[in-house]
Amino acid sequence: MKISILTLFPDVVRSYLGASILELAAGKGVVAFDVVDIRDFATGKHRQVDDRPFGGGPGMVLMPGPVVAAVEAARARHAALAPTVLLTPQGRRFDQGLAETWSRGPGLILVCGRYEGFDERIRDVLAPEEVSIGDYVLAGGEIPALAVTEAVVRLLPGALGHEDSARDDSFSSGLLEGPQYTRPREFRGLSVPDILVSGHHRDIEAWRRQEAERRTRERRSDLWHGGESETTSD
Ligand code: 6GU
Repeated sequence: MKISILTLFPDVVRSYLGASILELAAGKGVVAFDVVDIRDFATGKHRQVDDRPFGGGPGMVLMPGPVVAAVEAARARHAALAPTVLLTPQGRRFDQGLAETWSRGPGLILVCGRYEGFDERIRDVLAPEEVSIGDYVLAGGEIPALAVTEAVVRLLPGALGHEDSARDDSFSSGLLEGPQYTRPREFRGLSVPDILVSGHHRDIEAWRRQEAERRTRERRSDLWHGGESETTSD
């Protein structure tokens, strides 16, 4: 899979890509990253990439020329037709289902904006998808692009150390993950539940399922659909 990230802050993006499971996945050849400085596609003496909005108002708007040129150059480097995605608070909410869909595709071209926005003709020309990572406003799309990248890449076969890790996550089963414990057996008078050290693997699985359901009901009633599993493990 190839993931292009187009940004005005390439150093910020490269820094995170080089310090996480994303670097491990790239090292194994599971994914290739392509970080692009949108300013490299600006023309003119000042390499300008944004300008004041027509009609007035606060902030700056990303100019269409550099963004469209950067996306078209990225598209030419992708062997297959990868979705072009604008990161913007006006997008559809990104979720685990979309991460799974994109992880089965050939790659992504992620375009980081600033919250004052993209010139509308960028949408007219590129017909991109648009996603938001939640109902709050960030100053730029870099953190959302890295969040999307990490959510997608960790689902790729071979990206994680342990192949079950992604399957058992919160959300992949439609449930939140339940409590986990490690050593020591006792900490400040709090013990690890006996069942987890019983060695009875079927009982442990049943307990974990029950705790995951309890946690989902208590914390995220919006995700709780009544206990009939959508993904029975077999
Ligand atoms: Cl994708 N961009 C910005 N600027 N803010 C956000 C966001 C994206 N998602 C949530 N807040």
